[in-house]
Amino acid sequence: MPRHLTSLDDVTPAEIDDILRCAADLKQRYKSGDRPALYAGRVLAQLFEKPSLRTRNSFEAAIINLGGSGIFLTMAEAGLDGRESLSDVATVLSSYSDVITMRTFSQQLILDFSEYSSCPVINALSDERHPCQALTDLLTIQETAGTLDGTHLVFVGDGNNVAKSLALAAAMTRLKFTLAVPEGFEFPKDFLPDVKSRFPDAEVQQTQDAAEAVSTADFIYTDVWASMGQEEEAERRKQAFISYQVNSKLMTQAPTTARFMHDLPAKRGLEVTNDVIDGPQSIVYQQAENRMHLARGLFAWLLAKQ
Ligand code: CP
Ligand code: NVA
Repeated sequence: MPRHLTSLDDVTPAEIDDILRCAADLKQRYKSGDRPALYAGRVLAQLFEKPSLRTRNSFEAAIINLGGSGIFLTMAEAGLDGRESLSDVATVLSSYSDVITMRTFSQQLILDFSEYSSCPVINALSDERHPCQALTDLLTIQETAGTLDGTHLVFVGDGNNVAKSLALAAAMTRLKFTLAVPEGFEFPKDFLPDVKSRFPDAEVQQTQDAAEAVSTADFIYTDVWASMGQEEEAERRKQAFISYQVNSKLMTQAPTTARFMHDLPAKRGLEVTNDVIDGPQSIVYQQAENRMHLARGLFAWLLAKQ
């Protein structure tokens, strides 16, 4: 059976450490001009139902850097628009591929696909989870703060796919995590109790008080208020989230050493103001660049296991 990364539930805390070490090592070598062709001739297939700049292209760049190449398919091109059964598509596509990434609305679709796939399947974002973003953010926080243990990450905004993966990533690595969220947009009721029951030492919580949460933050993170697929709710969400904007006033309530993070794409002027995202505390482009380094580390780690 291939190893999959449909969510961070598929890996252990020790394996997260291994993936981060692999990514950090390959990044260091990359920066000194060393791009080992560890996986010459290997094929990455990417099956995407939603648009992507960072995820799609960082995965493709990563496999090319490792000596392999990438194929890209939309759901319709893959036949997942009703032309073929999921099991047939997964069986056939995986027979041509060494690794498959999928970006979907439904988390269940990735889980079902992975059941029939003969090669590893990686979640490239679903409505529920974004594990590769969270792993990348761990790498970026580790680079910047030197350690994850006890560092405080405050996510100001929606209890969405990115926030859920970050909270779970934090619980697995002893990073302290707070979601500052308006009423009605918190994590689902069972989410935090479930995380805490599995990782009893985890310091993960949610609050409506953003100013209080950021007062002890090492990293302040936000994401769009309306995720892909929620476009019709954008106006209602804007009303609900406006007092949770990450702006210079909120940043002055945090330690001056706090850094600003965003997975991007950002809606500038909504969840974050230009002066913050373009300001000296922002590390958003380091995060975006690290998507590729994490992808290389993840491929190297995962393909070594096949
Ligand atoms: N952060 C992220 O996943 O960006 P894309 O939607 O551009 O892939
Ligand atoms: N929460 C956002 C993340 C985009 C990378 C979305 O799902 O649209």
